[in-house]
Amino acid sequence: MFRKKRVLSFILACIVLATFISCGASKKSEVTEEESSDLIVVGFSQPGAESAWRVALTDSVKEAFSESKGYKLIYKDGQSKQDNQIRDIRTFIQQGVDYIILSPIVETGWDTVLSEAKQAGIPVIICDRNVNVSNEALYTAFVGSDFKSQGEAAVSYLEKMYDSDGDGVTEDLNIVHIQGTLESSAQLGRSKALAKAMEEHNNWNIIAEDCGEFTKAKAREIMKNTLEEVDASDIDVLYCENDEEAMGAIAALNEAGVKYGVGSKITVVSFDATRNALELCMNGQINFVVECNPLQGPYLYNIVNMLNQGKTVPKITYVDENTFTPDELTEDYIQNRKY
Ligand code: AHR
Repeated sequence: MFRKKRVLSFILACIVLATFISCGASKKSEVTEEESSDLIVVGFSQPGAESAWRVALTDSVKEAFSESKGYKLIYKDGQSKQDNQIRDIRTFIQQGVDYIILSPIVETGWDTVLSEAKQAGIPVIICDRNVNVSNEALYTAFVGSDFKSQGEAAVSYLEKMYDSDGDGVTEDLNIVHIQGTLESSAQLGRSKALAKAMEEHNNWNIIAEDCGEFTKAKAREIMKNTLEEVDASDIDVLYCENDEEAMGAIAALNEAGVKYGVGSKITVVSFDATRNALELCMNGQINFVVECNPLQGPYLYNIVNMLNQGKTVPKITYVDENTFTPDELTEDYIQNRKY
């Protein structure tokens, strides 16, 4: 009798649960349909996925413009080609998106497609790197890094490090310079700061310079070739324009058995401050890292939100950035970073 009662109440419970689940499901799909028609559509064009840094930027933007916050984000990867990015922006225009976010691979060549977006009445927010256009009204706002300041921070570290008596005259320096994607804002800013320092210090020499495309593989190849042409004992500074390049160059130095970093002759300078590079910095393998902050999603969200409310937005927003030396880093700090 007792067993029969238990079976009956189990069946009843199953019926109640099934009804509850099916009601819940139909309610949920109604809400989703309703919501999706109200979503603000943002097209996001990235140049590629060449570095851990860029993946962090993509994640940050995706997180900021989530459906739960009322947005639908259409993400496009330009596969490291400007033509692809231009095609992606044209697709966004045809789709009638509400906003376009563009992280441009290089600075020039955007006038036509940005005019098309303007004619279609779609605000464009430039992010990460900047554009160099004939009329700044072609885009609504810029959110990203001040790359020249980043380069200046690296240069001023070198100036202090190699001027031990503080008289403004540094030691003679032989520099290996591995550049990022040529004509990108990140390369232009970081290279310009070094070029200016070269003018100011006539005892600084660039003994090797090549473009590493912001990738580990290319930088490793450049460093390997450099070590075949230059005596490693002549190198004082390795100026890499991002962490991937620093890691690639370091791999080549390791292979060749050349010492570098704190306590060695070769000082390594890098940009980005990704977790892997900060580990190397904490261990003394990279002397100085200039941060390039990829967590730009919240800044972009703020701009789009203001535009939604009809507010005037700042034309330029620079993201917060820092610099790092080995003594300032702890494992705890590194592991708690988002990228
Ligand atoms: O534009 C930012 C640069 O692009 C970052 O330094 C680099 O890692 C990325 O690929």
